[in-house]
Amino acid sequence: MTILVTGGAGFIGSHTVVQLVKAGHAVVVFDNLCNGTAEALRRIERLTGKSVPLVEGDVRDRTALDALFRSYQVTAVIHFAGLKAVGESVRQPLAYYDNNVNGTLVLCQAMQAAGVRKLVFSSSATVYGSDAPVPYVETLPRGRTSNPYGTSKAMVEQLLTDLQVAEPGWSVVLLRYFNPIGAHPSGVIGEDPRGLPNNLMPFISQVAVGRLPELAIFGDDYPTDDGTCVRDYLHVLDLADGHVQALGQLVAPGLHIYNLGTGLGVSVLDMVRSFERVTGRSIPYRVAPRRDGDLAAFWADATKAQRELGWQASRGLDEMIADTWRWQSQNPQGYQD
Ligand code: NAD
Ligand code: UD1
Repeated sequence: MTILVTGGAGFIGSHTVVQLVKAGHAVVVFDNLCNGTAEALRRIERLTGKSVPLVEGDVRDRTALDALFRSYQVTAVIHFAGLKAVGESVRQPLAYYDNNVNGTLVLCQAMQAAGVRKLVFSSSATVYGSDAPVPYVETLPRGRTSNPYGTSKAMVEQLLTDLQVAEPGWSVVLLRYFNPIGAHPSGVIGEDPRGLPNNLMPFISQVAVGRLPELAIFGDDYPTDDGTCVRDYLHVLDLADGHVQALGQLVAPGLHIYNLGTGLGVSVLDMVRSFERVTGRSIPYRVAPRRDGDLAAFWADATKAQRELGWQASRGLDEMIADTWRWQSQNPQGYQD
């Protein structure tokens, strides 16, 4: 009775593993460590007192997956493994379709052969596309995606929908994340991007800790209150709890889609000012040109998750920032410390 967590050595996966263990689940992690680290799992053991096995392997490797399904009594799979850098996906589309789409395809084939038909998939708010009205609600159709990363998520959603129609015994939950930030409140695990961070929060925290000189704010002429982009940031532990609660939906066959967000919009400038207030650090910034592909403002309608999963984000922005800062200040070089 084990939950297989692909990509469990990464940012969201590692926090989900902690919450799964806390909820009493047995877990095995499968990860090729291309953007995760075995150190995260050692630290999870320190945090939970439980050792979580790591099987090093690639989700595109059918032989490795078959061996894993023979070794563990897997009841459900939470599938985080994939590539997630939008700019890189534009430069290397084949790598993104191979990892994200082909990886999910091979995983599903291995699950099918092993008789495991319960899957939670990491999707993204990006599948609503560039023309959807806000707040995003699950009844909207998938929209026009603007980069191969987003398209790969939309393709996987379609693949899983088609599979569930063809084989109605499958239970599939598609979780559309908004902007996860924060870290475990212990400061023991957190987000550790390789190279220059693409995302706002790790960039700000690396400026705060002195690894980077200043933040570039991508555009202050958007049609928002202060001219900077607005997003729905949620605490990674709330997101992790959403996965634990989503497992309950796998009991009966079917396909369910949920937004996981707070329902609140926060601008880039709000985030900088809140970070300064909560941490007492100053964040030097300059305004830079808009980043290609950015949308002015979006946030979640998260009422379906509340209604059907009993899930609601409970940690506020100050807590997200305080937890990010505890992780970053205690681990200035991330897991290398
Ligand atoms: P992450 O890069 O920290 O974690 C992904 C993990 O998957 C890493 O440990 C990596 O080593 C592993 N991995 C990648 N390709 C693999 C492969 N082919 N085989 C086995 N392991 C592989 O990313 P994250 O932020 O934790 O994101 C997890 C999932 O959530 C991803 O699918 C991502 O697209 C999705 N998502 C993330 C965000 C976000 O803002 N972080 C938003 C929406 C959706
Ligand atoms: C981005 C991706 C999204 C992906 C998510 C998680 C784009 C267009 N979207 O979301 O598909 O699911 O990451 O990987 O890349 N910002 C700055 N300066 C920075 C970094 C960010 O001003 O150095 C701004 C951005 O312009 C944006 C906001 O901060 O307005 C949030 O950016 P980010 O954290 O990258 O998230 P998204 O763009 O929402």
